Amino acid sequence: MTTYKAEFQRSINQPEAFWAEQAHRIPWFMPPRQILEYDEQGHARWYVDGELNICHAALDHHVEQGRGDQPAIYWDSPVTGRRRTLTFGELRDHVARFAGALAGLGVAKGDRVVIYMPMVPEALVAMYACARLGAVHSVVFGGFAPHELAVRIDDARPKVVVAASCGVEIDRVIPYKPNIDAAIELSEHKPDACVYLQREEQAIEFGERDHDWRALLSRAEPADCVPVKGSDPLYVLYTSGTTGKPKGVVRDTGGYAVALHYSMEAIYDVAPGDVFFSASDVGWVVGHSYIVYAPLLRGCTTVVYEGKPVKTPDAGVFWRLVSQYRVKSFFTAPTAFRAIKKEDPDGKWLQQYDISCLKALFLAGERLDPPTFHWLDDLLEVPVIDHWWQTETGWPIAANLQGLEPLPTKAGSATVPVPGFNVQVLDREGQVAKPMEQGSVVIRQPMPPGCLVGVWGDPQRFHSAYMAAFPGYYLTGDGGYFDEEGYLFVMGRTDDVINIAGHRLSTGEMEEVVGAHPAVAECAVIGIHDALKGQVPVGLVIPKDGFDGDEVALEEALIALVRDRIGPIACFKQVLVVSRLPKTRSGKILRKLLRNIADGKEYGIPSTIDDPASLQDVHDAMIQRDVGAAHEARQV
Ligand code: COA
Ligand code: AMP
Repeated sequence: MTTYKAEFQRSINQPEAFWAEQAHRIPWFMPPRQILEYDEQGHARWYVDGELNICHAALDHHVEQGRGDQPAIYWDSPVTGRRRTLTFGELRDHVARFAGALAGLGVAKGDRVVIYMPMVPEALVAMYACARLGAVHSVVFGGFAPHELAVRIDDARPKVVVAASCGVEIDRVIPYKPNIDAAIELSEHKPDACVYLQREEQAIEFGERDHDWRALLSRAEPADCVPVKGSDPLYVLYTSGTTGKPKGVVRDTGGYAVALHYSMEAIYDVAPGDVFFSASDVGWVVGHSYIVYAPLLRGCTTVVYEGKPVKTPDAGVFWRLVSQYRVKSFFTAPTAFRAIKKEDPDGKWLQQYDISCLKALFLAGERLDPPTFHWLDDLLEVPVIDHWWQTETGWPIAANLQGLEPLPTKAGSATVPVPGFNVQVLDREGQVAKPMEQGSVVIRQPMPPGCLVGVWGDPQRFHSAYMAAFPGYYLTGDGGYFDEEGYLFVMGRTDDVINIAGHRLSTGEMEEVVGAHPAVAECAVIGIHDALKGQVPVGLVIPKDGFDGDEVALEEALIALVRDRIGPIACFKQVLVVSRLPKTRSGKILRKLLRNIADGKEYGIPSTIDDPASLQDVHDAMIQRDVGAAHEARQV
């Protein structure tokens, strides 16, 4: 660990010198003189006085350096049967023209643009076009329902919404315009304009505020890159918190560009000209960082994939993509490989493809469970790397740094803290935990470049959600421990956030939706273990006194309500009507206990419980309704 340790120590002991050096690795219009400063609340701000434009650094700069003819994007869409390659030169021109089109709609530096698009190259064009103008984009994942989109529109107050006419799932076309129309109807803030990319799978009719992407583009003049400060916001990305109101994570420009560039070298070990494939979605942070920005900043080609790991058309599709595009570094979520393993347990599809180009496989979005790790490790000849991060950090907090010093892997561990992240595990009293002792995983200030700089429109929430629990530390919301060799094991959230198929959702938000139903007196939504998706939500509901309706109909109505309000991506498919819920004497629902029962664990009756019989009732109901592994749970 010598090389890693030396680099890590330098990043912690001399953060300014370390990140000043890294800043030189990307092109600035005006290099920063002030590397690190702190705001009035003591939060780190990087490269405040530097000037750059990330679109220039990722596109124009490479064209100027002679990469204009190198592919920037390989788009592969088995769900539509189409493929397309865009070079750096073509992408830069397309982005400049679309930026001109947005400018024509009144978008200027600092304005917000909401992007609601599937995995098409135009999604990247729209994001870069915003960046080119210094406008702030906010991409909303297509699986979210109109209500969620409306919440984001009201929070971000965009001038323009950019969308496609539809998304395409395995077996169906999903019209996007009705969602956008419904969201704008629901929102108080009304954008001035909507731009739609017409797709062959679903043509739409334009309304009053709507514009056709292609028509707009054909009339637009290319726009130049607008210089922005290192600390100016690049995007707002909403993520689930513990309440119904998602947090708008604000990302700066300079720190993010420097951190992503560093990660491409140190963690992913890719060089200009290499091909990088991240099988995520532009609606998630992984998509922002490792489909859109990092690969192009590094002069790599990014694979943009519109499809699933299985059924589009088969469980060999990832191997086909790796082989066809000569992918060097591949990144996806463990759940994707659990889906593949289910269909192809012996890895037969892999034999059909030459994947000798692949040098490492990276997994994140949820913990890489040891069975999936071992399956992949046996199947592949390259390192299988779990790495841990979150929307807030924007890049990995812990990893096995392939470009710095590859370390032996340990199943279940994300390996070691990445340089810049002073990760600690604290016990309940805020003391540093001993090795092997579980606690709250925190990051000591200053956070390195690239991490969130605030919660959009709510500076107080940034402080209360992340900084207040342990002064001087950022609270990750994850629990875990270090082993004796300094390997970090991240074991799961300590709050109401759950991870469904690598997607982060809030059980607190689901409870708010379910609890708002007129027939519901009380409810709890818990995340339970699922063999494919990692976790899925289950609702437990007490109807109001006097409820004499059909319980099955109520359960169905609640499932439909969550799908309608949050979206299909919440995978809320199981609700149980119960007569009481186990609570402490102070009235707190014992959610952890309920989770343990559903996961088939042994459980004791806590001394603080108000009504011990309520526990048995719920356990019986779970067994009867076949919830998770409740039949295996034993009271001890
Ligand atoms: N637009 C509209 N609906 C969407 C959508 C989108 N962009 N993405 C997903 N949905 C819908 C799906 O159609 C599904 O609807 P259904 O309940 O009617 O079937 C629902 O949301 C749940 O989707 P998903 O979680 O994708 O489940 P699935 O059963 O279709 O697929 C996996 C399961 C494991 C193949 C899939 O979840 C997957 O590929 N996961 C990897 C996730 C990933 O890469 N995450 C990256 C984060 S790092
Ligand atoms: P998101 O913000 O959607 O990226 O989700 C972040 C959360 O996903 C983290 O707080 C963790 O709970 C979980 N997560 C992501 N990657 C990992 C990993 N490699 N190991 C354990 N948990 C992970």
